[in-house]
Amino acid sequence: MSSPRHQAHARVLAIAGSPSQRSRSSVLLRHAAGILQRRGLSVGELGLRDIPAEDLIEGNYAGPAANALRARVAAADAVMISSPVYQASFSGGLKAVLDLLDPKALAGKVVLPIATGGSPAHLLALEYGLKPVLSALGARHILAGVYATDTQVRLDEFGAREIDGEVSRRLDDSVERLSELVLPRVAVSSPSYDLGRLALAGAFSV
Ligand SMILES: Cc1cc2nc3c(=O)[nH]c(=O)nc-3n(C[C@H](O)[C@H](O)[C@H](O)COP(=O)(O)O)c2cc1C
Repeated sequence: MSSPRHQAHARVLAIAGSPSQRSRSSVLLRHAAGILQRRGLSVGELGLRDIPAEDLIEGNYAGPAANALRARVAAADAVMISSPVYQASFSGGLKAVLDLLDPKALAGKVVLPIATGGSPAHLLALEYGLKPVLSALGARHILAGVYATDTQVRLDEFGAREIDGEVSRRLDDSVERLSELVLPRVAVSSPSYDLGRLALAGAFSV
């Protein structure tokens, strides 16, 4: 297992693709982010409102918000992306964000898709809608997505939230997989890795 020093270098970007202020898909995303943060990974959040609406509508690739977005994605080891299902696919707002990325922006990154929908009928929206777009952006390591229905993510008017146990377990498993994949890469690429420990582990000889 990696030491906290290594974990601190792993960076995850959590992109919330719902335009809603009280968003179920964002609740799942934040839940996943919380687990990773408790493990010592650094998690940044980005929502649709972090990019000016005009930039999204006009596809302002050269604007400062799009530049900042691309820099944040480039700096991440993993990207978690959440969205509601809208008309059997992911949200148009999220597509407008993804359209501001470079064609290979997700190459070499671990990607975890998360979605919520009104019914199980559009469970495959992640497979048929989001995953081809992620692949086109160079993602080759797309983890099994987590899909939940509205009844499995309960919100009340005071902001309290409750995630169904089964969804929570699936999310835990995907997050576990994400950290398993990200932490060894970070340890290897970290300039501060412990040569003695790696040598003892038989990773190489000194
Ligand atoms: C415009 C619109 C379109 C929707 N289309 C679908 C759909 O095709 N299939 C589905 O299962 N749910 C659909 N829903 C329900 C949402 O996907 C669901 O409530 C989701 O949990 C909302 O996520 P959010 O709270 O993160 O925005 C739709 C909701 C809206 C507002």
